[in-house]
Amino acid sequence: MQFGDHFKAMKPLDPSVKSEACVLGQKRKKSTPKEAAVRKCLILEQKCSLPIFSAREKLIHQVNQNNTLIVIGETGSGKTTQLPQFLYAGGFCKAGKIIGITQPRRVAAVSVASRVAEEMDVEVGKEVGFSIRFEDATSSITRIKYMTDGMLLREALLDPLLKKYSVVIVDEAHERTIHTDVLFGLLKGIQARRSNSIEGKFREENGAEWKKTKRGDVTEDSKRNGNDQKAAWPHNQKANMFETSIEKEKDHHANGFLMEKSLSPLKIVIMSATLDAQGFSDYFGGAKVVYIQGRQFPVEIYYTYMPEADYLDAALITTLQVHIEEDPGDVLVFLTGQEEIESMERLLHDRISCFPEGTAKIMVVPIFAALPSDQQMKVFKAAPVGTRKVILATNIAETSVTIPGIRYVIDPGLVKARMYNPRTGVEALAIVPISKAQALQRSGRAGREGPGKCFRLYTEEAFHKLDDVTVPEIRRCNLSSVVLQLKALGIDDVLGFDFMDKPSRMAIVKSLEHLYTLGALTDEGKLSNPVGVQMARLPLEPLFAKAMLMSVSFKCSEEMLAAVAMLSVESIFFTPQDKLKEVNLAKLRFSSSEGDHITYVNVLCAYMGELKKIGEPQDKKAKKSLQNWCNIHFINGRSLKRALDIHRQIQGYIQGIGLELLSCGEDYSSFRRCLAASFFLNAACKQPDGTFRALASGQIVSIHPSSVMFGKKPDCIIFNELVHTNKHYIRNVTRIDPLWLPELAPRFYCTKDIQTNFLPDSQGQKPLQD
Ligand code: CDP
Ligand code: MG
Repeated sequence: MQFGDHFKAMKPLDPSVKSEACVLGQKRKKSTPKEAAVRKCLILEQKCSLPIFSAREKLIHQVNQNNTLIVIGETGSGKTTQLPQFLYAGGFCKAGKIIGITQPRRVAAVSVASRVAEEMDVEVGKEVGFSIRFEDATSSITRIKYMTDGMLLREALLDPLLKKYSVVIVDEAHERTIHTDVLFGLLKGIQARRSNSIEGKFREENGAEWKKTKRGDVTEDSKRNGNDQKAAWPHNQKANMFETSIEKEKDHHANGFLMEKSLSPLKIVIMSATLDAQGFSDYFGGAKVVYIQGRQFPVEIYYTYMPEADYLDAALITTLQVHIEEDPGDVLVFLTGQEEIESMERLLHDRISCFPEGTAKIMVVPIFAALPSDQQMKVFKAAPVGTRKVILATNIAETSVTIPGIRYVIDPGLVKARMYNPRTGVEALAIVPISKAQALQRSGRAGREGPGKCFRLYTEEAFHKLDDVTVPEIRRCNLSSVVLQLKALGIDDVLGFDFMDKPSRMAIVKSLEHLYTLGALTDEGKLSNPVGVQMARLPLEPLFAKAMLMSVSFKCSEEMLAAVAMLSVESIFFTPQDKLKEVNLAKLRFSSSEGDHITYVNVLCAYMGELKKIGEPQDKKAKKSLQNWCNIHFINGRSLKRALDIHRQIQGYIQGIGLELLSCGEDYSSFRRCLAASFFLNAACKQPDGTFRALASGQIVSIHPSSVMFGKKPDCIIFNELVHTNKHYIRNVTRIDPLWLPELAPRFYCTKDIQTNFLPDSQGQKPLQD
């Protein structure tokens, strides 16, 4: 394939931009004092060359002056790494206060924390730290804390006024993840309540009465927006109050009222890489917007003449062609998930090994959300001279992480997204086209340090048909998890919650119904105790949290814990297409004829056994031996390591809420019964043609080839994941007895219907009644 055949050149995006010195990208390694000094110099030089640098004083001033500020700046302008440092130096961490920065993705939180720690010459976990689900690297001296947006929501459960924080920066706001959207509403409320508490202090100082707020209530004043607060507080007084206020604990008075005394105001900064500031500003009561002047070099865009039948193959060929034909510069390939990235990684290695002697080398580095944090930093490491770095990334590299050195972007135009149909209650992962805004962000990655090229693996006509912007996640996701969190935060009126983009009423009602079905809500719609309270404490999707709770009474909580940990990671096995036979043989050692859940339990047990044998893989030899074990069994070592981390963490939570860990031993029927009792909404029955019909939605589904149940024909199954590709595939499947359904979920299934569907002489596959 020639470019000439495949692509037509388009006009450069924006030719009117200036040059910027690219300096860094190397990882931190033990270096001599001289090298360390040089590196420090380089870091300083790079910091000073970032577009945000010249706005330093202005930004500190604006945050002082405004309770809420919107900061807009192109990817790579220095928002994420620099603004928290400016505010730290600008006095926002006095009296032990913390600057919190939320990220939609764990990788970004970890990699940016590490970068900022290096810039400030401290260790990660000391002054600069991060907190993501299942991993916390902070300490009592942490002042700049990067975290996922979901983690800050969880923190609000324990600290409803987020008192530790002087500033919360919601980064990557344009991504509009479901957690970011909920945070918007929550932070707005917290800011108002904290400002009220200052009003109380102010009145006290002026001889006025304390302001009383009933615990959990939002007072009239606190419903005011940012503008109103501004009106109530002259700027100088407000700034002064911030500087001098000393936090005192809340007083609980005998009459049940709560005194919120002298909390400093919460500063909110919303940062976005796209220009749609108006929506944010309107939502935050006309908040001020600051624009950071960006720098972007021209990027030549290429489209295919014809639609690509196989985007992965097209991406592979294009990558190799760029490598052979184009000038030096790193390549960034956007793929949709871990599995795709890992298979592309193997394909590239295979192809490279066939290159003739003397061809320049390629260094392939993957980056995706579930990559263990110690492996994430490789992406920032510069390739040796004469070697081209090829980064295989999910849309994480679109705006979240800025990787230096990229000159070529390969964009198949797709992204993996969660899609939820509130009518059927079915949530599925699907690979869908990106929006125009995303396509622009992706191509922009090629032009940060010099002119670049972007190869879009779709036609120009297809580009014009893309949506302009991405629909916020809250409008297309299952809301059960956030509704449970809102309830746990004491926000009972979820329908009335101040969302920036309101989810449909139907989606909210469905999630309330779902939580009620799981027993998390009472008849009055309040969080039930202990079930709802315990579910909210576990950092798991409500369905999995409930499964964990149920497993105690089924005496199989050890097995459920292992299964839940394994279900939290992607691709346990890797399956090279040319080694299918070997893979299936290797899988036999673990696979259970009952299904994937028990198979996963077996894999995790075997892995833990192996770890015990060789000890924690600290030294090189042990690491190698573990990797060997993984290779022999076609097991994805990365995924398993992460599953083990998750296992340890959830175990801690379970013990924390006082639940027992019990094993069902060899008797897996109680575990399968527990799976049926937990996931009965995802039950499916066999059809005459070998496909399955999901009982709740009536949808026809097929068992995914990666399942150990593929090719088998059990009468009835439960499953955990629905994937839309050319078919509706189900993954993570376990065989159950159909009669367990009416027994364990009598409100959903009746024995008569089940018997009509499953008795051997039954002809009918009539839909079941709900
Ligand atoms: O947030 P924004 O996209 O505006 O920029 P940033 O993430 O703060 O990145 C600023 C600069 O730091 C870029 O030049 C990155 O290449 C560099 N950086 C880095 O070298 N290593 C990291 N782990 C993060 C950022
Ligand atoms: Mg950023």
